[in-house]
Amino acid sequence: MTTFEQLIPAPDSSHWVPPVQGLFPLDEETVLHASPGTEGVARWLRGTVGAATGLPFPDGRNDNGIVLGIDAALADEAYRLVVDGYAIRIEGGSAAGVFWGAQTFRQLLGPEAFRRAPVDSGREWTVPMVVIEDAPRFRWRGMMLDVSRHFMPKDGVLRHLDLLAAHKLNVFHFHLTDDQGWRIEIKRYPKLTEVGSWRPRSKWGHRASELWNETPHGGCYTQDDIREIVAYAHARHIAVVPEIDIPGHSQAAIAAYPELGNTDVVDTSSLGVWDTWGVNPNVLAPTEHTLRFYEGVFEEVLELFPSTFIHVGGDECPKDQWRQSPTAQARIKELGVGDEDGLQSWFIRHFDTWLTARGRRLIGWDEILEGGLAEGATVSSWRGYGGGIAAAKAGHDVVMCPEQQVYFDHRQHGGADEPAPIGYVRTLEDVYRFEPLPPELTEDERRHVLGTQANVWTEVMEYHARVDYQVFPRLAAFAEVAWSTLPDPAERDFADFERRMTAHYMRLDALGVDYRPPGGPLPWQRRPGVLGRPIDGSPPNV
Ligand code: ACM
Repeated sequence: MTTFEQLIPAPDSSHWVPPVQGLFPLDEETVLHASPGTEGVARWLRGTVGAATGLPFPDGRNDNGIVLGIDAALADEAYRLVVDGYAIRIEGGSAAGVFWGAQTFRQLLGPEAFRRAPVDSGREWTVPMVVIEDAPRFRWRGMMLDVSRHFMPKDGVLRHLDLLAAHKLNVFHFHLTDDQGWRIEIKRYPKLTEVGSWRPRSKWGHRASELWNETPHGGCYTQDDIREIVAYAHARHIAVVPEIDIPGHSQAAIAAYPELGNTDVVDTSSLGVWDTWGVNPNVLAPTEHTLRFYEGVFEEVLELFPSTFIHVGGDECPKDQWRQSPTAQARIKELGVGDEDGLQSWFIRHFDTWLTARGRRLIGWDEILEGGLAEGATVSSWRGYGGGIAAAKAGHDVVMCPEQQVYFDHRQHGGADEPAPIGYVRTLEDVYRFEPLPPELTEDERRHVLGTQANVWTEVMEYHARVDYQVFPRLAAFAEVAWSTLPDPAERDFADFERRMTAHYMRLDALGVDYRPPGGPLPWQRRPGVLGRPIDGSPPNV
C-alpha cells in the first residue's frame, strides 16, 4: 500500500498518474516555487517538511520542483495535488486550499515527514506520482479546548494548533473563562487574571471524587501571548474563536470583581475562584454595571481576535440567585422580559446587538434558545441535535457538537482502566459514524449547519499528555467526518479507516502525540485508584 492510500482525512479522489506507478524523488536540489499568495504555505513547508527531511527546498522554478499556486476556478478551500514526472504541483482555490494540499503532501512523504529533525540522513525521500482532488464537506471544522479547568501553557496551545492543522481542521474554539479560572489578560481589569487565574486547590478526579490536589493551579495568557496564538493559527488557516462565558460559569470573574455577582443574595467578597467541578450557582448580576464591564472585556477581545464569530457561552446558567434577588426581580419587571429565562436572553441579546454593530457575529451554546434566541445569534448545539435543529428551522446558523457524540472528555472505552472514566463511552468507531446533519432538517435548513466541532473539557486533564490521550485517535475520525464526503453512518467503511489508521498512528508517534493505543491505555496512561469507579449512567459533565 502506498502513502496516498493511507490519507486521513480521505480525499475526494486520488489515483496514479498513468502509465507507470512511479515515485517522484526529492533531494537537495528540489526547488520550491511559491506563486503570489502562497508564500506562507512555502514557509510552513520549509519549517516542517524541511526540518523532517533535512532538505533545504531552495527558492526557484524549474521542471523538477514543488510549485504552489492559486487556481481561482477551485472552491475556496479545495485543492488539486498533481505529481508527475516533472513537478509536484499543489494548487488551491485560496491559500487555505494550498495549505490543505501541503498537509496532504506531507502525508504522501510518509510518517517520518512528521518528525522535527531527520533520523536517517542517507534516506531517499519520494512521493507517489498521483493526482488528488479534494475539498472539505463543511466550512466549520472545529475543536474546542477548555483552558480554564486546567490551564494549558502557550507552547501546548501552539502544539495543539499544529495537530488541528495536520487534520485539516480550521476553527479553534478557545474556552478562556469559567468558574475555575480566567485565562486572558484584560488590561483595564487586571484583577481578572491577578485574582481570577489562580485557585488554591483542585478536585482530583471527577466531581464525585473525595480527593483533592492541594497544589495551587493557575496561569493566563498575556495579550502578546494571545496575539502570537492568533497569528500562529492564522498561518495555519485556523480561525481562533474566543469564548468569554456569560452570564453563568463566571465565578472566577466574580472572585476578582465581587460587584459582578448577585450581592443582595450572596456575599461575593469571599467567594474565591472555584476549586471543584460541576455547575456553579454564582452567576452575573443582571445590572447595567455588568453590561458595561463586559463591554470593556469584549472591546479588548475584539482587538485581539479578528475572528468573525465571538462566543459568549450562555450555557448552564442556574437561575436560583436571580429568583431570590430583589434586584434581579425588579430588573425582570423593568425590562418586561417575563422571567429569569427572559433575563438570560436580555444578556445575550445585548451582546448580539453590540457585536453586530462592530461587524462581528455572536455564537453561544444552545441554552441561548431559552427565553428567545437573539436575532443574529449562531448556536453551538451541545446537548444533542435538538437545539441545532430548532435554531436552523428558525433560520439561524448552527455548529453541531452534540455531547453524546463528540465530547472527547468522555471515555473511549468501557474498561475500568480508562484514565478519565467519565461520561458516555464513545469509541473511535462511534466517532467515525457521527453524522453532523440530522435527518430532521430539509435541504434548505441544512445550509444553516456551518459545520461541526469536537469539544474537550479538561477537568480531569491536568496537562497536555492527558488532553492528547482523550483527543487522539478520535480526532482523526472526527476530522474525516468534518472534511470528507462519507456515506451514511451505517455504510461507512470503518475497516478501511482502521487500515489507514495504521499509518496515522505512525504519524502521531512521529509528532509525539500520547494517543490512546488501540489495545487500551499504556501503564503510564492509567491512573489506578485516583478517579475511583466509572460513573456509568450519571450526567456526563464532571
Ligand atoms: C457545555 O458543555 N456546558 C457547553
